[in-house]
Amino acid sequence: MTRIIVLPGDGIGPEVAGEAVRCLTALSAQCDLGLTFESHDFGGIAIDRHGTPLPAATLEACRGADAILLGAVGGPAWDACAERPEKGLLQLRAELGLFANLRPGKTMSGLEHLSPLKNKIVAGSDIMVVRELTGGIYFGEKIEGGETASDLCIYSRAEVERIAHVAFGLARRRQRRLTSVDKANVLASSRLWRAVVVEIGAQYPDVALDHMYVDAAAMALVTNPRRFDVIVTENMFGDILSDEMSVLGGSIGLLGSASQSSDGPALFEPIHGSAPDLAGLDIASPAGAIASAAMLLDLGLGLTDMGALLNAALEAAIAAGCRTADLGGSARCSEFGARVREELDAQFAARDAHLALIAMNRGCCG
Ligand code: NAD
Ligand code: IPM
Ligand code: MN
Repeated sequence: MTRIIVLPGDGIGPEVAGEAVRCLTALSAQCDLGLTFESHDFGGIAIDRHGTPLPAATLEACRGADAILLGAVGGPAWDACAERPEKGLLQLRAELGLFANLRPGKTMSGLEHLSPLKNKIVAGSDIMVVRELTGGIYFGEKIEGGETASDLCIYSRAEVERIAHVAFGLARRRQRRLTSVDKANVLASSRLWRAVVVEIGAQYPDVALDHMYVDAAAMALVTNPRRFDVIVTENMFGDILSDEMSVLGGSIGLLGSASQSSDGPALFEPIHGSAPDLAGLDIASPAGAIASAAMLLDLGLGLTDMGALLNAALEAAIAAGCRTADLGGSARCSEFGARVREELDAQFAARDAHLALIAMNRGCCG
C-alpha cells in the first residue's frame, strides 16, 4: 500500500485537490497501484478546528507519508489571525526540509493563443523554475513593530550549494542551460548566492550557466521566454517569477509543483493560492492540482510512466477544448476533472486494443 496524505486546505483547495485525487484513484484502480488516501486538516480549516494551522497529527501523518498532495491554504477569514494559514505552510516546508521547489511552466504546442502574450513570443517556451524554499527572506529573523519592521534575507553557503546541485542536475536532463537569478548588484545574500552557484557550476561543465538580475529576468520572461531552460533562484524571487511564468501557458490555474527534501517524503501542490473569489463555485481550474498529482506519481513514487499518462490526459482534455473560465472556457472544475478521467480511460482502451492486437498476431503467427 502506498500512503498519500491529502491536505485539501482552504478556498478552492478542496475542489481542485478532490479532482486530482479522483484522477489518482482512477489510475490506481486501472493499474493496480495500491494508492491509499488520507485527508488531514491544514491551514485555515485547521485553525478553526484545532486552533493552529499545522496540527501535530497533520505533521505526523505527513512525516509517515509516501507522498503529500496539497490544495491551497489561506483566505480573508484568517488574515487577521496571529498564526495565519500561510505560516502553517512555511512550518510544514521547514519541518519536512522541503528545500527544492520545482515549478515547470510551458506553452502547449498549438495552444499559444491561450496566453495573453503574443503567439510568436510564447511559442515553444518550456521552463523549469527551481525555487529555494526553506531559506532567504521567508525564514530570516523578523522584527515587527508599530514604527519599524524588518525581514532578514539570509543564506548560508550550504543552502545555496544544495539547491544549485538540484538545478544543475535538472538542467543536465533538459537543454543543459541554467540561469541563476539574483540581485547581486544590491544584495549581499545575492553576491554569496552567485559566487556559490559559479563554484558548483565547475562540477557541471556540460551545463551552460548564466546570471541575470531579477528585474531583467522578470522582463525577459515575458519578452523572450525561450531564452530560459532552467532558472534557479532564491525563495522570494522564485515565488514571484513563477506566478509571472504562468502567463506563458495561459493561466496560473495550470501550474503544478513538487517540493523535495534530501530524504523524506515530497509535497506536491499547484502554485496558485486558495482563490477566495472562486471558492465554492466549482469554476476554478483543477489543472494545476492534476499536474501536481502527475509530478507526485513521477517524482514522489517513481511511477514515471503513470505520471506521463496523467499529464497526457490532462493536455488532451485542454487540447480538445475542455477549458475552465480562466482559459476562456465554460467547463466547471468538476467537468474538467471528469474529462481528464475520460481521456485516461481512452488511453487505457487504446492500450488494451493494442495489446489485444499483439496477442492476436502472436496467436496466428507463433
Ligand atoms: P491566488 O493564486 O489564490 O489567486 C490569484 C488569481 O488567480 C485570482 O484571480 C484567482 O481567481 C486566480 N486563480 C488562482 N487559482 C486559480 C485556479 N485554479 N483556477 C482559476 N483561477 C485561479 O492568489 P491570491 O489571491 O494572491 O491569494 C489568495 C489566498 O491564497 C491568500 O490567502 C494567499 O496567502 C493564499 N495563497 C496560498 C498558496 C498556497 O497554498 N500554496 C499560494 C498562493 C497564495
Ligand atoms: C506559494 C505561496 C506561498 C509562498 C505563501 C502562501 C506562503 O505564495 O506557495 O507560492 O509565498 O511560498
Ligand atoms: Mn506564490
